[in-house]
Amino acid sequence: MSIQTKLNIGLFGFGVVGESLWQVLQSNTSLQAQIKKVCIKNPEKTRNAPQELFTTDANSLLCDDSINVIVELIDDADAAYKIVTTALLKGKSVVSANKKLIAEHLPELLALQQETGASFLYEAACCASIPVIRNLEEYYDNDLLQSISGIVNGSTNYILTKIAEDGLDFATALKQAQLEGFAESNPALDIEGTDAINKLTILLAHAYGIVTDPKKLVCNGITNLHEQDARYAKEKGLAIKLVAHARKQEDGNVAAFVLPQFLKSDSRLFNVRNEYNGVVIESALADQQFFNGKGAGGFPTASAVISDLSALRYNYRYEYKKLYYSQPQQLADEFSLHVYFSFDVDSALPADFFDNREEWASNGERSVVIGSVSFSKLKDTTWWKENGNSLVALPDVFIDKNGKPASTKARKAALV
Ligand code: HSE
Repeated sequence: MSIQTKLNIGLFGFGVVGESLWQVLQSNTSLQAQIKKVCIKNPEKTRNAPQELFTTDANSLLCDDSINVIVELIDDADAAYKIVTTALLKGKSVVSANKKLIAEHLPELLALQQETGASFLYEAACCASIPVIRNLEEYYDNDLLQSISGIVNGSTNYILTKIAEDGLDFATALKQAQLEGFAESNPALDIEGTDAINKLTILLAHAYGIVTDPKKLVCNGITNLHEQDARYAKEKGLAIKLVAHARKQEDGNVAAFVLPQFLKSDSRLFNVRNEYNGVVIESALADQQFFNGKGAGGFPTASAVISDLSALRYNYRYEYKKLYYSQPQQLADEFSLHVYFSFDVDSALPADFFDNREEWASNGERSVVIGSVSFSKLKDTTWWKENGNSLVALPDVFIDKNGKPASTKARKAALV
């Protein structure tokens, strides 16, 4: 496809994002892009677009040679997989926002891109309006990239903000996030942390060349947070956020996980509120950089899709530089985390869970322990996120065996 090529789009899905994309393309002429046909699941639904635009026949888009771009914006990851792979095999460029599909099928999708040479772009799949994928892909050298930490799910951030600032209960805040169009069709993906871990999986590939199964990454969402945790946060002036981390350790391997975290007011993520996402990138020479923007919703997500469409006009493809042109990093297992753990007083805490206990308190109902835990204990078991147990990362989550904030190799290596 060249800059002169007009983008003739076959769109799958006309939900919040699909309709926003349609509306934007109606008024935008500079992009030279038009939606030829939209494939939807339910033809009975009333939609704000001409009836003749819609079809339920996927093949009428996939087999139409005049359609050179497929934009996939549906919520069913299995159906999306078929659409995306068929389109790539037919030589069409594909734009997707489907983080579940991409994270769960990354190895196959990488192979298919190599085999077909077709462009497969998905900036909208991570942090919606924040251009984090292309930045990681193009700008940051693997050796210099120390860490990425971010609020990457808008719905959970919206819920936590509404609970902390407006006193809403969890169910009402979730309902509001759904009504605003931020949540997944299955909101369990948001609140249990799966959506965030899928996004982290994608970021790991572009930041460090790590291709991993998202189900193997340590993850906990916000469903286990207890009132005691909120009280602790309030007493100490902390915010609770769901934070994804990828951080190069001393040995060069990368620690990666998603956990709720207490943040101090000096953290750049502290003031990321509502459906906004925030990503802090630390590189050895530049130190911290902070990206902040809307992480969910129709137009913010459509803005990333539009940016991908625009990139297709100059034949942009991800090169997966960290994977193919340098030594990919490995995931780290041997490191410790500084955590807060609250649990019902009737539950037993395995004696060897904490390597080091700094504080232990109980109010007769709930016990709280603060200390350091080996990451492998979180990786190899799940009891710590079951039965009312709540584990929250502390602000200085990376800690060494002596209880000191852990340092990384990257900065030292870059500066010598
Ligand atoms: N449900 C997702 C979120 C949508 O809340 O972040 C954007 O990926």
